Amino acid sequence: MLSFMSLLSFVTAVLLLSLSNAQIMFGFYKFVCPNAEYVVYNEMVDILSVAPSLAGPLLRMHYHDCFVKGCDASILLNPTSNNVTEKVAAPNLSIRGYGVFDRIKEKLEETCPGIVSCADIVALVARDVVALTHGPFYPVETGRRDGTRSDAQDVIGNLLPSTSNITALKNVFLQKGLSIKDLVVLSGAHTIGTSHCSSFSSRLYNATGQSDTDLTLDKTYAQKLKSKCKPNDQNTLVEMDPGSFKTFDVGYFKQVLKGRSLFLSDEALLHDRETRTYVERQAMASPAEFFKDFGISMLNMGRLEVLTNEQGEIRKNCGFVN
Ligand SMILES: *[C@@H]1O[C@H](CO)[C@@H](O)[C@H](O)[C@H]1NC(C)=O
Ligand SMILES: *[C@@H]1O[C@H](CO)[C@@H](O)[C@H](O)[C@H]1NC(C)=O
Ligand SMILES: *[C@@H]1O[C@H](CO)[C@@H](O)[C@H](O)[C@H]1NC(C)=O
Ligand SMILES: *[C@@H]1O[C@H](CO)[C@@H](O)[C@H](O)[C@H]1NC(C)=O
Repeated sequence: MLSFMSLLSFVTAVLLLSLSNAQIMFGFYKFVCPNAEYVVYNEMVDILSVAPSLAGPLLRMHYHDCFVKGCDASILLNPTSNNVTEKVAAPNLSIRGYGVFDRIKEKLEETCPGIVSCADIVALVARDVVALTHGPFYPVETGRRDGTRSDAQDVIGNLLPSTSNITALKNVFLQKGLSIKDLVVLSGAHTIGTSHCSSFSSRLYNATGQSDTDLTLDKTYAQKLKSKCKPNDQNTLVEMDPGSFKTFDVGYFKQVLKGRSLFLSDEALLHDRETRTYVERQAMASPAEFFKDFGISMLNMGRLEVLTNEQGEIRKNCGFVN
């Protein structure tokens, strides 16, 4: 009986091992490309020192990748004559920095050809952006493989417009198997970066369709935004966390609570008990709790519909399938 029990636990252990084989893990490249994470970090130090404004878009890239058919670098695939890829889908205004992935991939191909996926580079770049803007350095699981499909149509319903209400926001996160907490924590990424006026100008000039201003916006702040963003302005960029948009901190939550967030989807976080409580707490807190939570929520997001083992491929060039 005893030996049967130990056999059973042995079988269970083997089963668990083989199951975990099909997942991503910490240090996947430890033996096959030991310097992989270091190479990415090194490049990111150089890139952000020259082009700090890429921080926001590069962090956002991971979200745009993972929320559309999983974290498989499908966002990086270039359109061709018969493929309208995710890259060309409408909510691409907030995304730039594609060249960063080509540059890092090239470095990695020199060091360990055919080993490191573009999907993992996307995840590592996001992590390094956070660390290099004075946020937390959280461990990232690796071992994702690259997808071979990218279709602009897949974006619909997966990436939410900045005008989304709390119900729509919660629904998408829950559908992905993420939590309401992940929603509010990951929204905190708006602590760095800028936004185009067009993503929130309806709040300034046509909040309810009566040529009015959104009453939930702090009045002084609304005036300030109007002076920066004239109606139909498509080009001007505005700081998402004014005064500290280059620093990853809890500033975003302070702004949301004061009615000084840019998007309806930020303001929406005050319309649910759980998300509101979190915003209120972080607005008063030291960043320690948010920093810890952010690492966990990024791990959760980074696991969405990943390809592992024999699935997908390791792209040679992030912009093209092999
Ligand atoms: C962004 O999307 C628009 C609308 O689909 C498209 O016309 C434009 O080419 C895209 N931009 C890039 C850089 O792909
Ligand atoms: C491009 O289109 C072809 C044919 O429509 C399809 O087989 C292929 O998978 C597509 N490639 C991508 C990257 O979506
Ligand atoms: C929230 O947004 C969804 C999708 O746009 C819409 O169907 C729904 O009516 C909205 N809910 C409220 C309470 O406005
Ligand atoms: C304001 O919103 C209403 C209702 O959504 C719309 O019909 C109208 O065209 C908008 N006005 C402007 C100037 O965009």
